[in-house]
Amino acid sequence: MFRIKGAKWGESAMALIDTQGRTINYLRLSVTDRCNMRCFYCMPKEGIVKKGHEAVLSYEELLLIAETSVELGIEKIRITGGEPLVRSGIVGFLERAAAIPGLKHLALTTNGLLLEKMAGDLYRAGVQRLNVSLDSLDPQTFNTITRGGDLQRVLAGLDAAERAGFPPPKINVVIMRGVNDAEILTFAEMSRIRGNSIRFIEYMPAIKEEGWQRYCISGEEILQRIAECHPLEMIDKGSFAGPSRDYRIPGARGSIGVITAVSGHFCSDCNRIRVTSTGQAKGCLFSDERTDLLPFLRPPDPQALTEALKGIVAGKPKQHGISREGYCHANFTMSQVGG
Ligand code: 5AD
Ligand code: SF4
Repeated sequence: MFRIKGAKWGESAMALIDTQGRTINYLRLSVTDRCNMRCFYCMPKEGIVKKGHEAVLSYEELLLIAETSVELGIEKIRITGGEPLVRSGIVGFLERAAAIPGLKHLALTTNGLLLEKMAGDLYRAGVQRLNVSLDSLDPQTFNTITRGGDLQRVLAGLDAAERAGFPPPKINVVIMRGVNDAEILTFAEMSRIRGNSIRFIEYMPAIKEEGWQRYCISGEEILQRIAECHPLEMIDKGSFAGPSRDYRIPGARGSIGVITAVSGHFCSDCNRIRVTSTGQAKGCLFSDERTDLLPFLRPPDPQALTEALKGIVAGKPKQHGISREGYCHANFTMSQVGG
């Protein structure tokens, strides 16, 4: 069971609280599973089987999910992909999403390739924050991880975002041993020099490519390596911060966080639910359980959709078992679920 808490003056109408007492105020909404990169830990080389036009939710359907979620108590929505900026009409959609009454935060996660061109439009549409996935500051390593991505374009995108009026984008860095772990300190320095907040993400075996274990490196080790060179002060998290532990190099504008998705310290602070671009709602990234929202969207049935979303919160597991021996989940690509 979950509770819906009555509103206090000035708060949103409701609060979604799950069986573990976690307030669920954050929806990650994927608008496409397509991407203009092929990061090796996210997608198989050959890419993913393209979903037919029909399978992907229309903007109207995505907006209905967003509106219903906000009515239920969701306060922050992050638009994800795949790469959200490759979907045509995305700016108009974002404008409409930003205007949903009661929505406090609209954020977007992008790989940054199209940011240089689109940052101004995104800002004017009402997107408040950008997260940019950027796993290496070395052009060659970046090219290898993304199977062909151009680092310069992403860096130009970061500059364009700030010129457009955004605060320095948060940078998501998936750290993989032997691939980019030598750049941990370089990224940490970026929080001081450029002012970006850096989120180090533990590599998750989503598609479990051959020998994936060798890439794993714990958040603890990442922090230790930084702490050997910089003093780190812990900083308070806001109510939307979710499952990252945040620190700062004294005097730096940006923070440094670790998302210990695999090693733990994660689930008890989880504040989110997810909906994929094909309308599959998930309470946990690593759970195989999902609810198909399509029956409540085609034709639209707001009441049933409300009940289905409540059901996702009610069924949110206490924690995932990914670090337990023998644990097995169906393979998925992050581009399908939206990270
Ligand atoms: N492990 C960790 N993070 C991942 N992401 C995608 N795939 C993985 C993985 N296997 C990250 C992306 C992006 C965020 C949405 O999820 O790099 O920053
Ligand atoms: Fe695309 Fe992001 Fe997956 Fe890379 S991690 S292939 S940028 S969706």
